[in-house]
Amino acid sequence: MPEIDIPEELSKIFSKSTRVVVLTGAGVSAESGMPTFRGEDGWWRNYRAEELATPQAFARDPKLVWEWYDMRRKIIHDCKPNPAHETITKMEKYFDNFQLITQNVDGLHRRAGNESVIELHGNLWRVRCVEEGKIFDFEEVPLKEIPPVCSCGALIRPDVVWFGEMLPRDQLDAAFEAAQTCEVIFVVGTSGIVQPAASIPIMAKQSGALLIEVNLEPTPISTFADHSFLGKAGEVMPKLWKFIKVRI
Ligand code: OAD
Repeated sequence: MPEIDIPEELSKIFSKSTRVVVLTGAGVSAESGMPTFRGEDGWWRNYRAEELATPQAFARDPKLVWEWYDMRRKIIHDCKPNPAHETITKMEKYFDNFQLITQNVDGLHRRAGNESVIELHGNLWRVRCVEEGKIFDFEEVPLKEIPPVCSCGALIRPDVVWFGEMLPRDQLDAAFEAAQTCEVIFVVGTSGIVQPAASIPIMAKQSGALLIEVNLEPTPISTFADHSFLGKAGEVMPKLWKFIKVRI
């Protein structure tokens, strides 16, 4: 990878008290071995979202939906956080005011050590009973029974947001609040086309934040970005952090 060109002016912005938000998407987990949704081998290139990631699909064929989640859970189970996750963990430890917002359901940020995590689209290691609405951790890999059932006998579903469903209100409110009050937002590995997550960087920018994007390629967010770094998150993020950290 060619050396990324980091403008010197970036060094003047940060102090320990800078209010920093990081928004991530599937690209941040790509180097851990987890396929993205819309990339070359992305899930939505090979599968139809409406057959796997909608409440209707689950009502029609819970076994098929759970087989897909079981497959993804197996992949993630064998993945490790990569240097991009690790850098974001270092950032949380360093800044007094830090908020991570992720669209990812893989739980890799928490595994890497981040604690201040808003999970906009849920987490596939959690499940919800379709009868009682009870939410609980469920980390069995591979599943012994597909579809799995709750102790009450009803089906359980992954506690993730499917197409056509609302995002968890508390998580979304917290994300909007963080976006409107931060001074710098890093947007890492998202195609920036799924709403409402895609509006978070724009909201931050309109509220006066500096927008730094890291992605393999330009996205709709790039137009608004103050700095766009093209490259792999696992390579760019550690370099950016090293640059920022030595100058703080
Ligand atoms: P996408 O698959 O839409 O986009 C992944 C982005 O990551 C693309 O812009 C890639 O260029 C970029 N990318 C890939 N590998 C990268 C790498 N190593 N380093 C940096 N960037 C890389 O994934 P999301 O934007 O996360 O929703 O998709 C948003 C939502 O759409 C997901 O949360 C999911 C999906 O349908 C739900 O499940 C509700």
